[in-house]
Amino acid sequence: MKLLGLELKNYRNCLDLRLNLNSDKVLIIGKNAQGKTNILESIYFLSALKSPRTSNIQELINFNSQKFEISADLVKSDTEISVFYSYDNGKNKELKINGVKSKPKDFKQVLKTVLFSTTDLLLLRGTPQDRRDWLDRAISQIYPAYDERLSKYDKIRIQKNNFLKDAAKTGSFNKTLLDVYNEQLVVTGSNIIFLRKKFLQEIEKIAVEKHRIISETEALKIEYDNNFGENIEDIAENFKAELEERKQEEMRRCQACVGPHRDDIIFYINGNEAVKYASQGQQRTIVLALKLSELDIITEKTGDEPILLLDDVLAELDDIRQNYLLKSINSNTQTIITSVDTVLFEDEFLKDVKIYTIENGCVRM
Ligand SMILES: Nc1ncnc2c1ncn2[C@@H]1O[C@H](COP(=O)(O)OP(=O)(O)OP(=O)(O)O)[C@@H](O)[C@H]1O
Ligand SMILES: [Mg+2]
Repeated sequence: MKLLGLELKNYRNCLDLRLNLNSDKVLIIGKNAQGKTNILESIYFLSALKSPRTSNIQELINFNSQKFEISADLVKSDTEISVFYSYDNGKNKELKINGVKSKPKDFKQVLKTVLFSTTDLLLLRGTPQDRRDWLDRAISQIYPAYDERLSKYDKIRIQKNNFLKDAAKTGSFNKTLLDVYNEQLVVTGSNIIFLRKKFLQEIEKIAVEKHRIISETEALKIEYDNNFGENIEDIAENFKAELEERKQEEMRRCQACVGPHRDDIIFYINGNEAVKYASQGQQRTIVLALKLSELDIITEKTGDEPILLLDDVLAELDDIRQNYLLKSINSNTQTIITSVDTVLFEDEFLKDVKIYTIENGCVRM
């Protein structure tokens, strides 16, 4: 899959930006605060319908405008597709594929991206929510129905929390209703747990090898921190049992304490938990291996090669990791890289790259 062009209107500081992306490697150079991340964010937005930086779409509208627009042309399995998204102050959204109105579910299927930014390098230091977000995003690009399941699970979980809070306030407790919520959580939640475990096992196989090459000797292990079992029946049975066991605790705390919204991913290097023992460089190596594996696994499972978006990440890696990253990018993978300057890139690499400069939200060749 390749992006051919991108157009932004009143998107953050990019008032009217047109970018020809018809190249496998694109480098966007600019000083701080010029709009480099904004461009990558807008491309990511087209693929996820959310920003990696904020959950408030309103923030993406330029300060002096009422509405932003993103349009892109891309080619996928030899077919050209155009996508268009707009959002205004009245919260009206317009989504179009080839000029025809589309549902978010279909829209998200068009463009696939893997974003690797400096914040991702902190994945291991981040919260369990950060790690679950990474995992969920990767899975939803492979199984389109996964997103819906996640939202369904979240909706029931929030209803259950409200129910528990109301029950504590009023002192009247409808046990049958709690059982209904729990039953629904088990059905949707077990599926989420199952898919997360399966995905992590698959990505682990690829990541271990990449990690070994970068680190030379170290052994990576990835574990999903949930011991409900491996097959869906066991997961459902154990999930149900734990909900029953911790019912009193949930009532006391007025919140759902059991389920995939509490799970985490644990990384080990040579048997030691990476969050606790690994150096910063070792943690970065894990993330690098993980991101490149994500690219491979999405390609393998969907037949579509995602677009790799590297936001300022090279500057944060040492020579060995920089080289590994640049050499591992398959020549067919369209890669859009932002950086403050070109010094980090070897002449050999720059030879085949389309280079743009961005200043104050405007680009030039
Ligand atoms: N809604 C908005 N309207 C107008 N400007 C905005 C809006 N949101 C962000 N900006 C501005 O866009 C500018 C560019 O931001 P961006 O994050 O893309 O910078 P960058 O080039 O990636 O810089 P850095 O190298 O520091 O990461 C910033 O000055 C920011 O304040
Ligand atoms: Mg930036």
